[in-house]
Amino acid sequence: MKKTSIHIPVQIFSDFEALEASDARLLEAARKATVGAYAPYSQFRVGAAVRLENGQIITGSNQENASFPAGICAERVTVSAASAAFPGIALTDLALTYINESGNSDHPISPCGICRQTLAEYEQRFGRSIRLIMGGFSGEIYIIGRATDLLPFAFSSQELKPH
Ligand code: THU
Repeated sequence: MKKTSIHIPVQIFSDFEALEASDARLLEAARKATVGAYAPYSQFRVGAAVRLENGQIITGSNQENASFPAGICAERVTVSAASAAFPGIALTDLALTYINESGNSDHPISPCGICRQTLAEYEQRFGRSIRLIMGGFSGEIYIIGRATDLLPFAFSSQELKPH
């Protein structure tokens, strides 16, 4: 038996002002996108913004449903819309934010498990990593260099190949 451990590099910024301009722009786009959330059940409005390799920014928000599992997270709405509108163009960065039921948003949130799996496939498809910028409307902001850092031992299409 041998033991190992996995480390996830995280950059922690004290606040919005500490971000580089292009990251601040993307997070601001995600913040604006919370307005488009349809979240009558959770009252938890999530906004996301992706930057594509061609510089285009696409935004999205969570879209819920009375049949709860039919609801879609902001991240998947956004990456799906981006990829459908710009087929074959890689995603380079994704910013994520939220406002909760009480109107508070003071710390970073990170993608749910299903969204991590989705983002991992986009990284694999395009052979490049997606940087994650996670922050509220105030408070610290976390940046992670690649989405798959949040999904160690991920299941991928490699397993489906005959071997
Ligand atoms: N949600 C997202 O859109 N992204 C996340 O990363 C976490 C959760 C949404 C799903 C649901 O509409 C609401 O937030 C509460 O879970």
